[in-house]
Amino acid sequence: MSHSLYVSRLTLTSFRNHAALDLQLDGRPVCLFGPNGAGKTNILEALTMLAPGRGLRTASLTEVARAGDEFRVQPWAVSARIMHDGEETIVGAGAERTPEGGVKRVARRDGQPATAAELAEAARMTWLTPAMDRLWSGPAGDRRKFFDRLTLARASEHGHSAAAYERAMRERQRLLSERVFDDSWLGGLEREMSAHGAAIAAARVETLHRLQSAIDTRPDGAFPKALLELEGLLEARFENGAASADVEEDFAELLREVRGRDAGAGRALDGPHRSDLLARHAAKDMPADQCSTGEQKALLVGLTLAQARALAGDPGAGPSLILIDEAAAHLDGIRRAALFDELLSNAGQAWLTGTDENLFEAFGDRAQRFEVKDGKVTPT
Ligand SMILES: Nc1ncnc2c1ncn2[C@@H]1O[C@H](COP(=O)(O)OP(=O)(O)OP(=O)(O)O)[C@@H](O)[C@H]1O
Ligand SMILES: [Mg+2]
Repeated sequence: MSHSLYVSRLTLTSFRNHAALDLQLDGRPVCLFGPNGAGKTNILEALTMLAPGRGLRTASLTEVARAGDEFRVQPWAVSARIMHDGEETIVGAGAERTPEGGVKRVARRDGQPATAAELAEAARMTWLTPAMDRLWSGPAGDRRKFFDRLTLARASEHGHSAAAYERAMRERQRLLSERVFDDSWLGGLEREMSAHGAAIAAARVETLHRLQSAIDTRPDGAFPKALLELEGLLEARFENGAASADVEEDFAELLREVRGRDAGAGRALDGPHRSDLLARHAAKDMPADQCSTGEQKALLVGLTLAQARALAGDPGAGPSLILIDEAAAHLDGIRRAALFDELLSNAGQAWLTGTDENLFEAFGDRAQRFEVKDGKVTPT
């Protein structure tokens, strides 16, 4: 399949160790290789600054600004020319100085100020990093964040629901900790929590179904299939076919009943902010966290490929870029070659990093390669 979504030019200005980078690209996978500390991950991170959120390192606006010149309060920018079915869009993200001496985030699409959702629409992307190698055995919060990002890629309003839910939850907790048991005030916040909470859970359940069906219909291959499950109070209700209005009402009622408990605990103990994503290695019928390091990675790769397939087949979404930092890590030669084949058949461009050029040998001339060294990038 030809690549219908790709970055044809990427420019970085004062981003981490890249003073000024200007990459001209075609639609083939982009392989970045070079020694440790060269700036490979920084390039992937720069791309992810175009997605909602704070990029693959969850960095602040100021820490990604290139250090060295003076203090870190300096502007930085990432700009990408995106080709999608022959149509060109230019998206950019960065930080600008404010008159007060602070920094603010800026985002543009075709020269106009844009929202995070508008940027995301132009270049959907999924990424995998070595930090996610421990996703299955690490804390639930990381899996929740991972899954919410998958959801955000197909339902941009998910970010709004999550922010609104958090706001109401924080405000309720503030009242509870100050022992302000004002029924109508708390009730109002709890109704907000339940409305946004139900929207969050419903969107997650929808994502799970789409993802699972993309996994189930993927041909058997080097990447094991996962059986996914969302563990959460509201998600379980939706899985059991409950109507949204009932889920909302019951959750509001529950929150009302547990005010005393949550006041004592210092946080809300129930709700979609506590949900978890569970996965099993389907063929081995084994929980993901009990699989080997390489198997856990392969499960995650399978999930990422399925996500790209689910998005591509979703009329409300479309093809997506796949970014894999240290693509070869934990994968044997056969799996690596299988990964490359799968990436070549994805409708969105792949971006990969590795320390050695020969890790990408199996691509032959089906990929473009760049050597990264001290923040300088040269095509090979
Ligand atoms: N804000 C910043 N300003 C300048 N340099 C930075 C900034 N943040 C990080 N760096 C530097 O960028 C360099 C490259 O980092 P990066 O993570 O991209 O390396 P890499 O090529 O992926 O290496 P590895 O193979 O070890 O993963 C690091 O040496 C780091 O110190
Ligand atoms: Mg790196």
